[in-house]
Amino acid sequence: MTFTIRSANLSDMPAIALLDSASFGITYTEQDIEDALLVLEPERFLLVVDDTDAAGSAVAVAGDYPFDLTVPGGKQLAVPGVTWVSVSPTHRRRGLLRSLMEHQLRKYVADEQPLAVLTASEGGIYGRFGYGAATQIRRTVIDRRFAQLRHRPAEIQVRLVEPAEARPLVAEIHDRWRRTVPGAINRTAARWDRSFLDRPGERGGMSARLHLVHPDGYVIFRIREDWVDGRAQNGCTITDYVALTRDAHAQLWQVMLGMDLVGPIESNELPLDDPLPQLLADPRQLRTVALRDGMWVRLLDVPTALAARRYEVEIEAVLGVHDPFLGDANYLLRGGPEGASCERTDRTPDVRLAVQALGAAYLGGPRLSFAAEGGQLEYSDQRLLRRLDLAFLADRVPFHGTGF
Ligand SMILES: CC(C)(COP(=O)(O)OP(=O)(O)OC[C@H]1O[C@@H](n2cnc3c(N)ncnc32)[C@H](O)[C@@H]1OP(=O)(O)O)[C@@H](O)C(=O)NCCC(=O)NCCS
Repeated sequence: MTFTIRSANLSDMPAIALLDSASFGITYTEQDIEDALLVLEPERFLLVVDDTDAAGSAVAVAGDYPFDLTVPGGKQLAVPGVTWVSVSPTHRRRGLLRSLMEHQLRKYVADEQPLAVLTASEGGIYGRFGYGAATQIRRTVIDRRFAQLRHRPAEIQVRLVEPAEARPLVAEIHDRWRRTVPGAINRTAARWDRSFLDRPGERGGMSARLHLVHPDGYVIFRIREDWVDGRAQNGCTITDYVALTRDAHAQLWQVMLGMDLVGPIESNELPLDDPLPQLLADPRQLRTVALRDGMWVRLLDVPTALAARRYEVEIEAVLGVHDPFLGDANYLLRGGPEGASCERTDRTPDVRLAVQALGAAYLGGPRLSFAAEGGQLEYSDQRLLRRLDLAFLADRVPFHGTGF
C-alpha cells in the first residue's frame, strides 16, 4: 500500500468525523461538527490518504489543540495537545499510526515545540513514540449519606447560579487555578463556550449541568434521578471542580455533602492530592475506585523543556537520553528552586534513560527512578539518582484537569 500524508482543511470535517465515529462510536450530526469546530482547527490536523483509493478518502487522522501548560515552578509553555487520533478499521496494523506519529513529531520539532502532550484511549499505544504518562486520573466515589465534615464551615459563600452567570466566574477561577498546578492546561474562551453548550445528547441521561460557585472555587455537577419505592438514591457526577483555598474547599464540600436525596457522588475530577480526606470525619468515605494514566508528555526540545521548570533541590547531572525518533544526546542539567539551565554536552552521562521516562517525570509526578524498574533507566551512582528523584518531584501532584 502507498499512501500520502497531507494537512486537512474544513472540507475534510465529515471524513474526520466518520473516522472518529468508527473508532469511538460517536454519531456526528452537522450540529455536532459545528460544535467541534468551536475548538478544533482542521488545518492543525494531518490526514492519511490511501493512494490506491480512487475516491481519495482519508483513512487515518491525527490532530492537535494548542495549549498553555504549567510546568513545575509556574512557567507556562505553549504546547500541542495531540487529539482525534484514529485509523480506519479497514487500514489498521499496517503502520499508519506510526507514520502519522513520525510525521507529527518531525513537524513539531520544525515548529520548535518544546514538548507535546496527549491523553490516550489505551495505555499501550504511545510509549513507543516517546510519550511517558506524567499525570494520573482517578475515579472517586463518596456516599454523602455516610460522609460528613469534621468541622462545619462557619459561613457558606457558595451560590447555586445559572449557567450564564457561572460562565465568566468559573473561567476566571479555573485560570487562576491552572497557573498554580504543574501539568494543568488552559481553557480558551472557545473551549468554555463549547462546554457550556451542554447539549442534551452529551448528558449521559443525567440533568443539565448545575453550577455551585464560591469566590475561590466551583463545582459543576449533574444529577441522575433514581427513586426506589418512594426513596430517593439519586446519583451525582461532578464534571468539573476547582478549589483554590481551604475555605472554598470546605464550603463547596459542605454544600455537596448536604444534598438531600443524593447518594453516591462520583467524579474523575478530584486531584490525587485533594484535601477532602483531611476534612472528613471518616476519611475512608472518599473511595478511589480507579486509578490510571492521565496526560502523557513527549519531550521534543530537551534543553528548552528542562530549563523551563524549577527543581525542588539543587541538582547537577548529565542525562543521556535515548530517543529512537529524534536521536540520542547527552544533556548537562543544572537546576534548583530558583531556575535551571540545560545544554547538550559531550560529558559522560550520570544516568542513561529513555525519552519516555524523562517525559513521565517531567511534571514532577512519578519518581524518575521508577523507570529503572522497567529497564528504562540505568545509573551507577545511587546517591545521585536519589537526588535526581528529589529534584524532579514537584511541590504538588501534577494534574491536567481538562480532558481533550
Ligand atoms: C490505535 C490505532 C490508532 C493504531 O493504529 P494502527 O495504524 O493500527 O497502528 P500501527 O499499525 O501504526 O501500529 C504502530 C505500533 O503500535 C502498536 N499498536 C497499534 N495499536 C495498538 C493498541 N491499540 N495497543 C497497543 N499497541 C498498539 C502496533 O502493534 C505497532 O507496534 P510496533 O510498530 O512497535 O511493532 C488504531 O487501532 C485506532 O484507530 N484505534 C481506535 C481509536 C483509538 O484508540 N485511537 C487512539 C486515540 S488516543
